[in-house]
Amino acid sequence: MKGVILAGGLGTRLYPLTKITNKHLLPVFDKPMIYYPLATLIDAGIKDVLIVTGGNHAGEFLRLLGNGKELNLKEIHYTYQSREKGIADALRLAEDFADGEKMIVVLGDNLFGESIKPYVAKFSKQREGAKILLKKINNPQRFGVADFKNGKVLSIEEKPKKPKSNYAVTGLYMYDSKIFDYIRELKISNRGEYEITDINNMYLKEGKLTCDILKGYWTDCGTCEALFRANVLIAKNQGVNFEDLL
Ligand code: DAU
Repeated sequence: MKGVILAGGLGTRLYPLTKITNKHLLPVFDKPMIYYPLATLIDAGIKDVLIVTGGNHAGEFLRLLGNGKELNLKEIHYTYQSREKGIADALRLAEDFADGEKMIVVLGDNLFGESIKPYVAKFSKQREGAKILLKKINNPQRFGVADFKNGKVLSIEEKPKKPKSNYAVTGLYMYDSKIFDYIRELKISNRGEYEITDINNMYLKEGKLTCDILKGYWTDCGTCEALFRANVLIAKNQGVNFEDLL
């Protein structure tokens, strides 16, 4: 399976931090943010990765990651999204790279506190369709939220004011190559983006969307609060004792 990391967008919610760099290059404890989703893919056995980036600081990714050899990757590919039109729009650029194979997509600002190996193993046995990973959280209004009963997703809403459950859709998605047909059918949303939630609902409508529930921690870094939380989670995980620190 191939891996795709989405690291475009302007990161405006983090201004002025993102005025002079790309969000995914900001530090999370002792590493640039993008190292974490990369490590998640590498741990799952992915050797071939495409990074989709955009904006004004795209060249910095090449400086940081080079050809991927230092990270034990077979190859890192890069592509450039010339407009910030959403996650599904960024994924459109991965069609040649995927070359008909299944792919695992991670949002470059998502951090996972557990190995995704077991979920990837399940998806590799899934004949077709897609898989999403859910995480039970308080206040999921800022995310895609799955209406979820008896292990089955019934519908997904993007940033609902009144969420139907506490299950957020995390930024780790697994797709077969049908996704590129769905992207071609996609209409732009009211907020001016091609929404990944619409893609997931298309798979759901065809009865081809499976899900698993994460047990470990999960966070994104999309807001200052979330970025701070990510730093704390990683530091704690690496044994930093906050009592001693303060
Ligand atoms: O973090 C999980 C959430 O991510 C999901 O629950 C939501 O369903 C999903 O829509 C997304 O919501 P966000 O509002 O957090 O997405 P954001 O615009 O922050 O984009 C997430 C990442 O996707 C970002 O770190 C870079 C990449 N991206 C985003 C856009 C809009 C691109 O590569 N290109 C883009 O045009």
